[in-house]
Amino acid sequence: MNNVVLCTNLKQNLDVAIERCEHDKIFVLADVHTQQLCLPLLLKSIDNVQVFAIGAEDLNKNIQTLVSVWNFLSQKGASRHSLLINLGGGMITDLGGFAASTFKRGINYINLPTTLLAMVDASVGGKTGINFNGLKNEIGVFNAADSVLIDTDFLRTLNHDNILSGYAEMLKHGLISDVSHWAELLNFDMNHIDYTLLKQLVGQSIQVKQGIVGQDPNEKGIRKALNFGHTFGHAFESLALARQKPILHGYAVAYGMVCELYMSCVKSGFPKDKMRQTIHFIKENYGLFSFGCDDYDQLYQLMLHDKKNENDVINFTLLEDIGKIQINQHADRKTIEEVLDFYRECME
Ligand code: GLY
Repeated sequence: MNNVVLCTNLKQNLDVAIERCEHDKIFVLADVHTQQLCLPLLLKSIDNVQVFAIGAEDLNKNIQTLVSVWNFLSQKGASRHSLLINLGGGMITDLGGFAASTFKRGINYINLPTTLLAMVDASVGGKTGINFNGLKNEIGVFNAADSVLIDTDFLRTLNHDNILSGYAEMLKHGLISDVSHWAELLNFDMNHIDYTLLKQLVGQSIQVKQGIVGQDPNEKGIRKALNFGHTFGHAFESLALARQKPILHGYAVAYGMVCELYMSCVKSGFPKDKMRQTIHFIKENYGLFSFGCDDYDQLYQLMLHDKKNENDVINFTLLEDIGKIQINQHADRKTIEEVLDFYRECME
């Protein structure tokens, strides 16, 4: 499992993380934004590194970019004992993690996530990969970073939309863990961010994820809890992409949680008051993703093709209550359409 460190002093934390690994040479993978904004901070903490920067958008998370990272490592003389540091958001930690996991059958890597989404989700738990044939994360392996260094100072320059995007995954961690963490998250003022409190909440959030991944690293069972909100969420994300108006992953998950909380109420007895409070928070902060009943068929087809499904049945993670998880739940088309009706009624 990952060694996850909530940084107090990046230089010291990085020194310790590097010492844990073999490292005849150290390489850094950044994107064009983190190269400008975050790399100078990293270079204050280490020297003698070779840096490679790739395009920042998710469309670069592909086989060609992966080949360019392998080429870079190869041309700069990386060996089996070299170390790769991934500096960026989820795209960088996923692609860099996969490049490291496959180069010379696997070299050590450290994740240094710079977005909230990557800190609380993507960089932790060992999922690595790239998109392929238009499918997200279609090719990849489970292979945890040796260390994940969480420096929440990077969040001070992150834009509000990306803070909200990561916060949706934190809200999910609250819903699948315990009432007090969930209540703290709902009370957080997203419009006046208290970064000290945010750091504490990020630490708790990562603990929730680590606790689950530790029980089921390869997602055979309880790790599916982390998919709460994602069955509807991925369909919304894909619909937005098809409309050429992409939405951030966390926003899609927030809208997906509205749907899956309602489904949890109907099918699993999730308490209505807690559903209403959570939906209120989402509506206030994330606004609305609009669709009509003429989009239902496309949304249903997208859910049918979700890679989380087994035996061609749409798979949901539902909640009986906060922290009471039910994995491998199913729903027929009529129920799914009723849930979409509910979303439109309560969000519009
Ligand atoms: N993003 C969900 C997981 O890591 O399983």
